[in-house]
This record gives sequence, C-alpha cells and structure tokens, in this order.
Amino acid sequence: MKEFKTEQESFWAGAFGDEYIDRNNDHKIISSNTNMFSQVLSKTAGIKSVIEFGSNIGLNLYAIRALMKDVEFSAVEINKKAFSILKEVEWIKAYNQTILEFEPDYQRDLALIKGVLIHVNPEELPKVYELLYKSSRKYICIAEYYNPTPVSVNYRGNNDRLFKRDFAGEMMDKFDLSLIDYGFCYHRDNNFPQDDLNWFLLEKKDHNRGK
Ligand SMILES: C[S@@+](CC[C@H](N)C(=O)[O-])C[C@H]1O[C@@H](n2cnc3c(N)ncnc32)[C@H](O)[C@@H]1O
Repeated sequence: MKEFKTEQESFWAGAFGDEYIDRNNDHKIISSNTNMFSQVLSKTAGIKSVIEFGSNIGLNLYAIRALMKDVEFSAVEINKKAFSILKEVEWIKAYNQTILEFEPDYQRDLALIKGVLIHVNPEELPKVYELLYKSSRKYICIAEYYNPTPVSVNYRGNNDRLFKRDFAGEMMDKFDLSLIDYGFCYHRDNNFPQDDLNWFLLEKKDHNRGK
C-alpha cells in the first residue's frame, strides 16, 4: 500500500476504511442526507458544480443530486474500495487521492466536506482549509463535530483518530468568508438522524471578482 504522511490517512486507506463502507451502506442514510442538504442548499443560488472531499461511496452526492438537477459532481476519496464504487457512477468524476495532496484542477461552485476534518491529523488542517478555499468558486459547506476548543475523542477503540473543534470558525478566521447559515443534526431525530453533526454554509466574499 502507498505510504502516507499521517497515520490517520493510512487508517482510512486500510482495513478500517474498507469496513466502514459496509457499515454505512443504507438508503436511510441518503434520506437523512437529503434532509440535511435541503436545509443547506436552500440558502444557496446557482450551484452547478460540487466537489466533495472524503466522499466515501457518494451518499452525500446522491442526496444533493436528488435535490438539484444539472449539477456536475466530483469526489476525492483516499480509500481504494470506496473509490472503486465511486468510479462506476457515471455522473461522478472520482479521484483516488488523499486530500492532503490533492491539487484542484478547477474551482467548483460548492466545496463540501462532511465527517472528514474530524479524522484529519490536526497539524494538517491548515492545508485542508486552504484546499477547501482554493477549490471553491462560491460556497463551502463544512459538516463536522463541533467543539469550542480542540479535543481528541476515542473513536471505536482508537486513539488519535477523532478530533473535534470549531473547524468553520477557524476557516472564517483565516479567509474572507461570510457565514450564510448553520445547523445541527441529531442522532435521535425521529425521521432523519445524523451523527450529531453541525453544518456551516460559508460564502467567499470575493466570489464575484474576476467575472
Ligand atoms: C466518516 S467517513 C465520511 C464519509 C462521507 N463524507 C459522509 O459524510 O458520509 C470519512 C471518509 O473520508 C475519507 N478520508 C479520510 N481521510 C481522507 C484523506 N486524507 N483524503 C481523502 N479521503 C479521506 C475516508 O476514507 C472516508 O470515506
């Protein structure tokens, strides 16, 4: 297997990442995602292209596609098994790469990351924030586990594999972004549970420049 810079990347590229796919392959997840993205996207305008970082088998992209037609979808995924499923989907442009090395080929209207920043080695976060900013023409959606201060939490018996913090706040400190909306999805929601995640929709303030 390819050598990665961080142990967190090797974790997701390897057996844990393979097993994650089977544990999380359920049409109910697409329903919950559709509910979440209907809230996120209702505050946007003119999205015609989306890139997701750490998309796994694309369950967020299926949800967005159910809500919006004529959108071009791209996905960057480190895990080979997840990538092999993604690349069979004719409407997804899939890249089998770590987001720590991915160089965006062109900007998309929306750059999305959900449940991935929490698994990135915290020392590498500035690189991923930069990637999100560079990849987006207009919007950035961050859906992760929020904590006001950085903390590391045991993840399925593993240490140093799950980190919570104010990812969106850190992006807003670093770049010229407006907060458009934010929300919470609860694991005990009656119809559309998610893993207690907080989503943030950010907009680039200079997105009209150069038009
Ligand atoms: C918890 S899952 C979330 C999947 C999906 N975003 C969702 O919301 O259902 C984390 C995903 O990110 C991928 N991932 C983790 N680190 C990555 C990295 N450095 N580069 C690319 N993908 C990564 C994993 O392989 C996995 O598919």
